[in-house]
Amino acid sequence: MHKSKIKGTGMFVPKKVMTNFDLESIIDTSDEWIYERTGIRQRHICSKEGGEYPTDMAYNATLDALKDANMEPEEIDMILFASVTPDMKLPNSASILQTKLGIKNQCACLDIAAACSGFVYGVNMADSMIKTGLAKNVLVVGSEMLSQEVDWKDRRICILFGDGCGVAIVGRNEDNDDSEILASCLGADGTGKEFFQQPMGGAVNPLTPDIIINREHFMQMKGTEMFKVATRTLAKNAKKVCKMADVGLDQVDWVVPHQANVRIIETTAKMLGAPMEKVIVNIDKYANTSAATVPMAFHEAIKDGRIKRGDLVLFDAFGAGLTHGATLFRY
Ligand code: UT7
Repeated sequence: MHKSKIKGTGMFVPKKVMTNFDLESIIDTSDEWIYERTGIRQRHICSKEGGEYPTDMAYNATLDALKDANMEPEEIDMILFASVTPDMKLPNSASILQTKLGIKNQCACLDIAAACSGFVYGVNMADSMIKTGLAKNVLVVGSEMLSQEVDWKDRRICILFGDGCGVAIVGRNEDNDDSEILASCLGADGTGKEFFQQPMGGAVNPLTPDIIINREHFMQMKGTEMFKVATRTLAKNAKKVCKMADVGLDQVDWVVPHQANVRIIETTAKMLGAPMEKVIVNIDKYANTSAATVPMAFHEAIKDGRIKRGDLVLFDAFGAGLTHGATLFRY
């Protein structure tokens, strides 16, 4: 069995920034309410002129990751693209990205529809593929343009989300160093599907003019229910992967949680007995970017010198489905 590790990371966010103050002029809200309840100050929003669609953001983020890993695009032998906002229905975003990157090796391309847990699903799937020898270098992407999917007239939801992309190259460790994915878990509880859904626009309810006029095609969330499940699940999975790797929670150097609400992150940290200094938080700048939050927060913490090679890191995510997953690794 091969060892796998994270070889490189990258991120990209669109140029346009929308602050809470900007939102005050669109809906009945305030910077104070949004910041106190969520920890969000601003979010980035994709241009509709082009150049910042999910696969464009992923292309730019991947160039950074390839540089970081000192690799050529052709060395990627699988692309896993996690997103609930793909460029289009067909073909999948992974295949579009393959072409944009100029990869000619016919590598496997798969989209992952696991909402906010999508990137962690991708890392864990890449890890299994590498360990069993089915793949050598997997590009895992979380890229979202949620600004298209929220109702900008609904203050309960539009304040929460933003656009952005984070990527990681998960590859076979041939360097004989300590970096290694140690343990991972994935799961889902479909009974909570109505807590966070977007039921219109699929095969069951194709879009009609009436659905659009009534603004029923946007994402719908039961915030309080999500909040409770999130904290419980994040804490449970963090403990689970630590146990699997026979590592004490106090030995973990950094927790990189999904960024849905700073209060969810703080509550989870408290349940785990982890000091907030060990928890990576960047929701203030980017809001909730679904599958992109974990790789963006991870990448930023590496770039600003907090996370270093050799550190023990925990990814922890949950989302619509309700999907969830965690990864423990030595970076
Ligand atoms: O990525 C995974 C998916 N996301 C999540 O899991 C998010 C989980 N949930 C949450 O983050 C929080 O539940 C929210 C941030 C969505 C809501 O926070 P809350 O503290 O649970 O607020 P609430 O929904 O209980 O609303 C409190 C009040 C309500 O007024 P009344 O009914 O008490 O008079 C809302 O109408 O705040 C009002 N409100 C707002 N006021 C100003 C709701 N949204 C806003 C707003 N600005 N944007």
